[in-house]
Amino acid sequence: MESTARVKLYVAISFLYNAEDWFRFATVNESEANMEIIIKPDYPAVCDEAAGMILKAWKKKPNLVLGLATGKTPLGLYEKLIALHRSGQMDFSEVVTFSLDEYYGLDESHPQSFAAYMDHHLYKHINIRPENVHRLHGRPQDIEEHCRAYERKIRSVGGIDIQVLGIGKNGHIGFNEPGSSLTSRTRLKALTRETVEANASLFTDEEEIPRFSLTMGIGTILESKMILLLASGEDKADIVARAVEGPLTAFVPASILQLHPQAKFILDEEAAARLTLKDYYRWAFENKGRLSASKEKG
Ligand code: PGA
Repeated sequence: MESTARVKLYVAISFLYNAEDWFRFATVNESEANMEIIIKPDYPAVCDEAAGMILKAWKKKPNLVLGLATGKTPLGLYEKLIALHRSGQMDFSEVVTFSLDEYYGLDESHPQSFAAYMDHHLYKHINIRPENVHRLHGRPQDIEEHCRAYERKIRSVGGIDIQVLGIGKNGHIGFNEPGSSLTSRTRLKALTRETVEANASLFTDEEEIPRFSLTMGIGTILESKMILLLASGEDKADIVARAVEGPLTAFVPASILQLHPQAKFILDEEAAARLTLKDYYRWAFENKGRLSASKEKG
């Protein structure tokens, strides 16, 4: 879609949803760029690609603001970031991070909390400053104020430069489950029965199994300057195809990324298997590489 047509579409949607937020999104992100599909041979290559993009952005902006996801998928990316730090290629002393979501009802010290996950898999291995790590808390005194303050904090540092996402088998991004408003902000969100059941085995006490979460909203995620959605494995192939090539719908929250000019789906072959235009995406990515090489030559 041409960028003028795209802007018209945004504006039309703005009347249906939240005019102010959508107008900001449409005008801030107006560019010739499009969502990009990058297909890599395997999971390690997916993580290398994402880590390389983060490193490149950090070289230009050492106080990079990252939005970070939990789950299985980003684990390899975090390992690569730790390796970049250990080899002296990346310094996190000015980097700022925001967690994408957190289970409601869990203390940070709970081993299944996303706070514990991030500490364990990334923060304790790098030189990030504790004051630069921002999290949604699982037991806030005032939920609504906590969510509003989180949004304010993101704005106060100039917004998120790169948001890392996984994708749920139901198309969720963060805990924005199917049916979430496409303009939603950070809020308390009920988990689906499937998500609750998928998590149940991680908890010994049934009373502790989270049924709600705090999550950045879809509108919040869309304001990130760049979005890296990573997916790996054949069990993601169906939902990736629906998100990338299906209609834009709240029933597949990740499909909204089709509107973001700097959203990149970084996929392994298995996760890309059901994409109809797979060969085209590969061809376009290779040619983009040629174009930037020839620009660099002068
Ligand atoms: P996964 O989760 O990375 O563990 O597959 C992704 C998600 O549910 O967002």
